[in-house]
Amino acid sequence: MLARVTILLTFLAVALAAPLTPDPEMVASQRIAVLQKQYQQNTLHLIAAATTGCTAENIRRRKEWNALTNPEKKSFIASIHCLNALPSEIQRTNATHAPGARTRYDDFIVTHIDQTPFVHGSGLFLPFHRHLVHLFETDLRARCGYAGPLPYWDWTRSWRDPRRAQLFDGSDTSLGGNGRFVPGRNATPIGLPGGLVKLIPPATGGGCVTEGPFAEGKYEVRLGPVGYEPKGPDGGLGYNPRCLTRDLSPEFSKGTRPSAVTALVDGCKDDLGCVNEEMDMAGGVPGGIHASGHWQVGLHALDVYASPSDPVFWLHHTQVDRVWTIWQGQNIEGRTRQVWGTSTAANIPPTPNVTLDTMMDLGVLGPAKSIRQLVSPVEGEYCYMYE
Ligand SMILES: *[C@@H]1O[C@H](CO)[C@@H](O)[C@H](O)[C@H]1NC(C)=O
Ligand SMILES: *[C@@H]1O[C@H](CO)[C@@H](O)[C@H](O)[C@H]1NC(C)=O
Repeated sequence: MLARVTILLTFLAVALAAPLTPDPEMVASQRIAVLQKQYQQNTLHLIAAATTGCTAENIRRRKEWNALTNPEKKSFIASIHCLNALPSEIQRTNATHAPGARTRYDDFIVTHIDQTPFVHGSGLFLPFHRHLVHLFETDLRARCGYAGPLPYWDWTRSWRDPRRAQLFDGSDTSLGGNGRFVPGRNATPIGLPGGLVKLIPPATGGGCVTEGPFAEGKYEVRLGPVGYEPKGPDGGLGYNPRCLTRDLSPEFSKGTRPSAVTALVDGCKDDLGCVNEEMDMAGGVPGGIHASGHWQVGLHALDVYASPSDPVFWLHHTQVDRVWTIWQGQNIEGRTRQVWGTSTAANIPPTPNVTLDTMMDLGVLGPAKSIRQLVSPVEGEYCYMYE
């Protein structure tokens, strides 16, 4: 009886305290959950009818970081350290190209650096990063024994302040904390695809990560910088060992608020050009959910070329892929095989519009792929969905 009265009173208190206009970001969060459910239903429906070998039983389910168990989180972190200790294929086969590459992890960074002028602000952006994430996952499993779900970082949950994300709380089940606060820093001008420059003002950190599994002394970055001054030796491909730095920004995190995701998934309708625009531009100004994900983490994550130096890159790009996938999943028939754009950043220098047969290079990580091979998350090499 007492319990029932308490529940009733709590209900009344919550109801009375609720503002008359619902918080638009709360509404957008609820909308994303609905869109995700719709995408999941459409995907399961599709694979039930297909004969590609991808089924509801064997499909891999990618999960938000907070949905992993602590042992899964620790195993994921250990696998990244494992890749960052295995020998580099580039060092073995083409050391003069990237003298700084020391590990298998570096092979991913070098490939991203090499391909940056083609796979950002272009029609290759989404498929290239989907495949890069897939190859990274494949390596984590095949070479480092990772057996858990591939995690994504849903930055809409911490859009008000990334310092509150469990992912950055500095514990041994996080990707490490913020960088040490360095006062009196200047803004960092970063080069963007297409020759634009964006000035990134200093935020809440700026120095080495001091806590957690990727703190100074536990994790070393060797490549870069490429995307801002002063560049590392050999144009950023030389050996430049240093700590991982971060600069968590509660300003740029506003660019990954829930309504920015619904603006893309609902607002773009069937227009893939609009999807790409929402990824990197907000109302014609550099920003958008992809860029804002990088900029709110800083400083290694700001480098358009060498950003995989910060392991958060993988969780951010899995989330970018999730947004694309949820958008595709609202109308699988109409949206999966769409192409947009050319194969150079901001079309500089000009290249023809891509087609489903346009190829992209993945360096030492794997064979070149056509867009066609990468557009469906449940065909060919892929069989995954987002939970
Ligand atoms: C080494 O890497 C560069 C840049 O990717 C490439 O142009 C060159 O063909 C590579 N050389 C060999 C022998 O693979
Ligand atoms: C390339 O695509 C754009 C739209 O994305 C279109 O306006 C343009 O005509 C296309 N160019 C060619 C040469 O087909």
